[in-house]
Amino acid sequence: MNKSEVYPDTIGVTKDGDLTLGGITLSELAKKYETPLYIIDEKTFRRKVQNYTSCIKENYNNYLILYAAKAFAAAAIFRIADNTALGLDIVSGGELYLAEKCNFPKNKIYFHGNNKSKEEIDYVIKNDAAKIICDNFHELDLIQKSASDHKKKVDILIRLTPGIECHTHDYIKTGHLDSKFGFDIEYLDEILKIIKQHEDKISLKGFHSHIGSQIFELKPYSDSIDILLDQYKYAKEKYGFILDEINIGGGLGISYISSDDPVDIEDLAKAVTSKLKDKCNKLNLKLPKLICEPGRSIIGTSGITIYTAGSIKQVPNGRKYVSVDGGMADNPRPITYQAKYTALVANKMNQPEKETVTIAGRYCETGDILIQDISLPRISPGDIIAMFGTGAYNYSMSSNYNTIPRPACIIVNEGVAEVIIERENYKDITSKHLIPKRLS
Ligand SMILES: Cc1ncc(COP(=O)(O)O)c(C=O)c1O
Repeated sequence: MNKSEVYPDTIGVTKDGDLTLGGITLSELAKKYETPLYIIDEKTFRRKVQNYTSCIKENYNNYLILYAAKAFAAAAIFRIADNTALGLDIVSGGELYLAEKCNFPKNKIYFHGNNKSKEEIDYVIKNDAAKIICDNFHELDLIQKSASDHKKKVDILIRLTPGIECHTHDYIKTGHLDSKFGFDIEYLDEILKIIKQHEDKISLKGFHSHIGSQIFELKPYSDSIDILLDQYKYAKEKYGFILDEINIGGGLGISYISSDDPVDIEDLAKAVTSKLKDKCNKLNLKLPKLICEPGRSIIGTSGITIYTAGSIKQVPNGRKYVSVDGGMADNPRPITYQAKYTALVANKMNQPEKETVTIAGRYCETGDILIQDISLPRISPGDIIAMFGTGAYNYSMSSNYNTIPRPACIIVNEGVAEVIIERENYKDITSKHLIPKRLS
């Protein structure tokens, strides 16, 4: 088979035409763990981390790569992230709780979000649990008050919207970005005055920007650094802030289908670090620590989902629908953003005969279509369908729609498969339901 970037590194095919991952046939995994099943290929994950690390290290020696937990928050993945020297980008008390359960080093956790609660902020500040990426004036006020209450000095970064809008293949620079996230740069004076006023409680470490997701270009990253560093210069000259860190967000795109052509991590690292060095040199600024926070480009193609085919419907003179045992609740991306995926029939890899089918989910929504019009070997009920590129924003965005339990997630490596998130059962997903006495 043609091993494109869409597939995990260890994908293979046995002589009998069975697809394998991590040295195990997917049919075997389906039998043992049932379907739908999320599978993470540990080798791909580690290679992606290694790739980010070595490409940045080659060009810049003061850096920290954060794994964006929102892409897939799992304890085992947090453990590998820590073991491979990554930090963590989190967005909720829940992600923080999981990180703490895994003994993730506090000083490498950065807390994001456009509406962090007072409780979350208080907890973080009281326990020195993370650095805070401050998103808005309301939060700046909460941080200042909480720092005062807990007699702490809090490290923060300020999230700015540099006026760069990305949509996968193209981007525009706008004066003011219409986004719920971050401060508009126009408010910089106001922000810096507040921080200056509370300098005993707040330590400004730097600025952050995240310009979008599934980005296929380099220029928006270097433009964003350009704009951010102008603010470093301004903050230094007008207010005397010497800022140590710059966080360029995540967002690098991946191949979901073979026509996707993402940027190499190596090229991203070169573009970003050379822009940083040139611009700091030009503005006479000290080189800040470079922080980035990729999610999808680390975990995305490390993950696949396997399903079992069930009912098959031929519309007279129309489409052939193959329904599988999962769908929009385990992968909401197709129905939410019309995301495109590719698939293979895992137990029919040496069958040359093909037909065009549409892979439909089992959920009660007409729009629950996982892949429209894909050419695959003739499918029968019981065949195993493997969908690729499902490592990011699948489990983490999954739901119990139709009161269906979430699938299990396993990790495979060198012929060994291990469960990292157990399959839910009916009891799990109904255990919080209560019937008021008067209704019994
Ligand atoms: C602030 C921030 N950082 C990092 C990420 C990770 O992005 P990606 O998974 O596209 O790399 C996101 C995703 O939405 C984000 O909002």
